[in-house]
Amino acid sequence: MLKPLCKALVCTLSFSLLGSAMAAEPIVIKFSHVVAEQTPKGQGALMFKKLADERLPGRVKVEVYPNSTLFGDDKEMEALLLGDVQIIARSLAKFDQYTRSVQLFDLPFLFNDIAAVDRFQQSAEGQKLLKSMESKNVTGLAYWHNGMKQLSANKPLRVPEDARGLKFRVQSSAVLEEQFKAVSAIPQPMIFSVVYQGLRTGLVNGTENTYSNFYNQKQHQVQKYITESNHGILDYMLIASSDFWNGLPPDIRTELDKIVVEATAYANSEADRLNQQDKQFILDAGTTEIISLTPQQRNAWREKMKPVWAKFEKEIGPDLIKAAEASNQAQ
Ligand code: LMR
Repeated sequence: MLKPLCKALVCTLSFSLLGSAMAAEPIVIKFSHVVAEQTPKGQGALMFKKLADERLPGRVKVEVYPNSTLFGDDKEMEALLLGDVQIIARSLAKFDQYTRSVQLFDLPFLFNDIAAVDRFQQSAEGQKLLKSMESKNVTGLAYWHNGMKQLSANKPLRVPEDARGLKFRVQSSAVLEEQFKAVSAIPQPMIFSVVYQGLRTGLVNGTENTYSNFYNQKQHQVQKYITESNHGILDYMLIASSDFWNGLPPDIRTELDKIVVEATAYANSEADRLNQQDKQFILDAGTTEIISLTPQQRNAWREKMKPVWAKFEKEIGPDLIKAAEASNQAQ
């Protein structure tokens, strides 16, 4: 039998040992995404993990789940807010339910190229959008690029009339639905992980995406034509729940903020190279003809799709649209 004083000492000792063991537990950051590892987002996520492993060993443990293996794009926001996942990099097209202003990025033919997108994202207006969902407990940490979107189908799409009556898979975005309605096509929202099957079985006839996503999801194998329309963009917002991010110990958050900056620079510097490489892989596969548009043909798509802007101008804000348009002029 232990004497009472002795018992108290053992107790205190075991509590303090337990306390230090608990303090030593690393903070687990699950980073879930829906694309393959060999994509701009996949590579950015791996770089984030690498840097965190190197700089915060034993304090932070990053687990990356690619290819919708943990959550698909239909569940990832809910999972983030419930704390089942800590970081996601969600397509800017998929924030309709949380903020109207981010719909800006889906407006067809708004940005001439990714350099313009980048200028806008780094501007005061672009940075403000990262904070536009704070009231919903969502903190935007950074923008990550994928690239310009192209159109695909099993018939050549050269002029808008070619899309008439075809069913196109879209991300869950009201703007993108209107974009396809504007060319008399039928938009069909669909989560990313089932697009290949949807195209293969003919549930949808076509889609839009970047070369990176076409190639890594093998969508080119079931699409005979890709039109290099560069009509819109697919970029991401890297987000965490505000509760999680603001609740991190300050020294860890400071280091993670730096890591976000570096992983962002890496993902963004790889994005164009990966898209060009995957375009070449698609050509090499010989499954898909890549159609270039003449300036007149591209203009015809622009003329049909641009009226979509007016439908969303009020909710997005005319000044924001103007600021984004202005980013097409390099300073
Ligand atoms: C899509 O659904 O097509 C994209 O948002 C997937 C992605 O995350 O790149």
